[in-house]
Amino acid sequence: MRIAVVGSGYVGLVTGTCFADLGHDVVLVDNDEQKLAELRAGNVPIHERFLPELLARQRDNRIRFSGDLQAAVRECDATFIAVGTPATDRGEADLSYVESVAREIAGAVDSYKVVVEKSTVPVYTSQWIRTVVIRNGANPSSFDIASNPEFLREGTAVTDFLYPDRIVVGVESERCAEVLRKVYEPLTSGAYYNRADAIPRPDRAQIPPRLIITSTKSAELIKHASNAFLAMKISFINAVASICESVGANVQQVCDGIGTDSRIGPRFLNPGIGYGGSCFPKDLMAFRAVAKECGYDFRLLDEVFRINEDQRHRFLRKVRSVLWTLRGKRLSVLGLAFKGGTDDIRESPAILLVQELLREGCHICAYDPAAMERAKEVLNSSVEYTAGPYEAATGADALLILTEWEEFAALDLDRLRKLLKYPIVIDGRNLYDPATMSAHGFSYYSVGRPAALTEDLPAGIRPDKREHS
Ligand code: UGA
Repeated sequence: MRIAVVGSGYVGLVTGTCFADLGHDVVLVDNDEQKLAELRAGNVPIHERFLPELLARQRDNRIRFSGDLQAAVRECDATFIAVGTPATDRGEADLSYVESVAREIAGAVDSYKVVVEKSTVPVYTSQWIRTVVIRNGANPSSFDIASNPEFLREGTAVTDFLYPDRIVVGVESERCAEVLRKVYEPLTSGAYYNRADAIPRPDRAQIPPRLIITSTKSAELIKHASNAFLAMKISFINAVASICESVGANVQQVCDGIGTDSRIGPRFLNPGIGYGGSCFPKDLMAFRAVAKECGYDFRLLDEVFRINEDQRHRFLRKVRSVLWTLRGKRLSVLGLAFKGGTDDIRESPAILLVQELLREGCHICAYDPAAMERAKEVLNSSVEYTAGPYEAATGADALLILTEWEEFAALDLDRLRKLLKYPIVIDGRNLYDPATMSAHGFSYYSVGRPAALTEDLPAGIRPDKREHS
């Protein structure tokens, strides 16, 4: 197939590159000439596993970069719109980029074309795109609009694309469905998985993935509802973790107990300092706004948001209750990205916490395997960045774990204890077993689990109790 992907951001770049690797001829379109020049020169603008390899394999082969949207639409069977849909002040999705792309596409519809919305958009967007394309002169019978939401996680986006749990395609005609079946055929037929150069298969991969064909409106809702549900699952377990702290129970045991129920499942039940990133916070609010517009007051989503905010504040209270006063304390911070495996710091709870600790007068020594450059753009210059986790820990009053990077779960604990001024670890991601930490001489505080103490704190202020008040 000949495929145009409009927008070379995170979704567009991963989607276009993976389509090329599936054997399609791809034109990646962007109006940012500098970005195009970087891509043509071989630079990969985002930190994403397997993307550099796939781009190197397909650049000058099956993927091209272009600034000419209309030429790309004319020469392609399907055009995927993957431009940004940032949030407006009112929490709605700003669809002006989608609209301007739709206007331009209209002028290039010279034979049957499929236009696919890939960006996360509210219900009815595909109908709006259709209206705009017709308003701008296209013949209504010479194109179809489809909705094909992505379920890519940052950091594992390439693997998620090639080994999806499911592929959702929303269409209004069989002709259009047929085009999208062909686009995904290398995955749904299983052919891709027999290739010697296929990206390694993750655990739990559903092979071949199921293609779910729905109406465009259902597909649009599937995307928002999926992200809202996952955010709700995280807030739910964070709320349970708070109760565990109050009563001295262990949220890990509770998770094992509920996650083994196949109707609930164990994934996305990790408590922490709250979800962040460019998707959950924005999509939750956008879904809330969509529901409101449709006459439904989706207050459950407000509560999901509130618990998420509160989770960060609770962690800060925990730091205070462990360290007593904060002014002048030297704190080692491991993790700045909104989650492990990415350099993205958008809506990162780690960044928000560091900003709060700076306001309280702490001195921060931070390390993140990928996000430090981005963090420097938003954090004040007093933050000290180190070359590794041990350098960050040296001489610190306490170590805070704020992002779930795999390497933070495999630290040399004896080395760490010797480097810290006091052997105190406050873990916002539950990366360690409390018993192991106390066996290594740490006072260890985590989320929703009893603290492992190697020191006496003044009576009545044990952080796991004080959280209650
Ligand atoms: C999320 C969805 O998982 C993807 O399916 C979706 O395609 C994407 O949004 C999107 O809409 O584009 P992503 O934002 O990359 O993906 O990250 P997640 O892995 O979902 O994590 C989101 C946040 O939740 C992170 O801050 C993470 O630390 C937190 N989290 C995740 C938890 O606190 N607990 C968990 O159990 C899981």
